[in-house]
Amino acid sequence: MAERPYIVGNWKMNGTRSMLSEARAIDRASQRLMKVEVALAPPFTLIHAVHKEVQQIGVGAQDCHHMEDGAFTGDVSAAMVLDAGAKFVILGHSERRQNHGETDALVKAKAETALGAGLRIILCCGESEELRDAGNAENFVTSQLKASLPEIAANAAEVLTIAYEPIWAIGTGRTPTAEDIGSMHRAIRSLAVDLFGEESGGAVRILYGGSVKPDNTLELLAADEVGGALVGGASLTAESFLGIVLAAADLPD
Ligand code: 13P
Repeated sequence: MAERPYIVGNWKMNGTRSMLSEARAIDRASQRLMKVEVALAPPFTLIHAVHKEVQQIGVGAQDCHHMEDGAFTGDVSAAMVLDAGAKFVILGHSERRQNHGETDALVKAKAETALGAGLRIILCCGESEELRDAGNAENFVTSQLKASLPEIAANAAEVLTIAYEPIWAIGTGRTPTAEDIGSMHRAIRSLAVDLFGEESGGAVRILYGGSVKPDNTLELLAADEVGGALVGGASLTAESFLGIVLAAADLPD
């Protein structure tokens, strides 16, 4: 792994202010684990509070609207999350694609708006179990990415991270083999190089997500072209999340 491993916690729809102590503990420990880049994406309601509590870790949002502002009751814009302290936004998560009908075109529009506002993005992709069983996982994921990724004129690696999260591995305790992860990540790398050029595309970070836990981190992150992890359930307590961060710190340079 060339870069420092990047470990991002996605709190999803979990967390009230009582969880700020977890963010503080994660931040404090991360100050001693400089070999790993750590970030948290709390729900919108906690972005500002987490941002105020932490010194070392990155803070991000889990979504934003594709329009800059306007009459969109209940929605939150890229500029708003930036103002609250977010530096990045997760876009195209399968839970948004499935539960909110987000299409590739909408994810791309959100990505362009977020980048325009000055946020970095973590763009998610991943296949269903049916597609995996049918042997179509790589075709599906590369097509999904081609249709969802924004055009990036500057250095893509500075503003874009891709997260491969097979839907069937999210919250299930099941994970692909290291070979399958490596093969998918190589396909994503080759697409990134095609789209963004050898240098930028070669440096875009590609995270794995789906049932990452302290005891499988080392194996999953050792797979080819894996630059870190996007963690759901195991990011909700400092104890389990730091178990993952510590395991990532043990990876050979
Ligand atoms: P789990 O780690 O709970 O499987 O969730 C993964 C995920 O969806 C992170 O975005």
